[in-house]
Amino acid sequence: MSEAPTTETAPAFEFTEDWFSRHIPTWNRILAALKPTRILEIGSFEGRSACYLIEQCPKLVDGPVSITCVDNWQGGLEHKAGGFVEAVMSEVERRFDYNTRLALGRSAAPVSLRKEKRDSRDALARLIASGQAESFDLIYIDGSHEATDVLTDAVMAFPLLRVGGTLIFDDYVWSDQAPQRREPSRMPKPAIDAFVNIFHRKLALYQWLPLWQFYVQKVAP
Ligand SMILES: C[S@@+](CC[C@H](N)C(=O)[O-])C[C@H]1O[C@@H](n2cnc3c(N)ncnc32)[C@H](O)[C@@H]1O
Repeated sequence: MSEAPTTETAPAFEFTEDWFSRHIPTWNRILAALKPTRILEIGSFEGRSACYLIEQCPKLVDGPVSITCVDNWQGGLEHKAGGFVEAVMSEVERRFDYNTRLALGRSAAPVSLRKEKRDSRDALARLIASGQAESFDLIYIDGSHEATDVLTDAVMAFPLLRVGGTLIFDDYVWSDQAPQRREPSRMPKPAIDAFVNIFHRKLALYQWLPLWQFYVQKVAP
């Protein structure tokens, strides 16, 4: 007796948030020119951006690709509402493991993924101490959104980036929506501005990126 043919469906990623997909057209342009083989990500959450890098980078280069993902999987300011952190960050980490395993299995070429579960300043200090200066082509800073942490991540990441490499900050204009929590110490922007101003002679800004234009609306007298 013959059985009816079954339709096999490929396993799906497990994402509950998407803060990344809208940036893909911009990242595609940057990566096509940069062709990064050594990548450092600060802040990985469920692995959405890491999975993009796992999929995209091997298509652009012949050699091996390595990606280091740093996250303490404790959540940041934006996750600390309603017990979210205590309740769910272990599940977020499980989804990171699952999603990146899936992406690695589907990758066009082998990618080496290193997961560093620790605070970013600890991870960055270890990378600096282990002699990895100027070894990364691309560093993505998307961890804590508190200004002191963002500034620390930027200053510590800088020596790890090779000359010609690219540093990307997420959430340049992010702030908490609740008015009583909208203050500069809880926003990435003052830290990114301070870093870019102080390191001005060591950086070139991508002039064609969307953030060059700001559209503001007056909302209070
Ligand atoms: C916005 S999410 C990252 C999103 C991810 N890049 C994506 O595309 O989906 C920020 C992550 O940074 C982590 N994080 C916050 N502060 C951190 C710190 N000081 N050290 C390491 N990780 C941190 C949080 O646990 C969280 O998973």
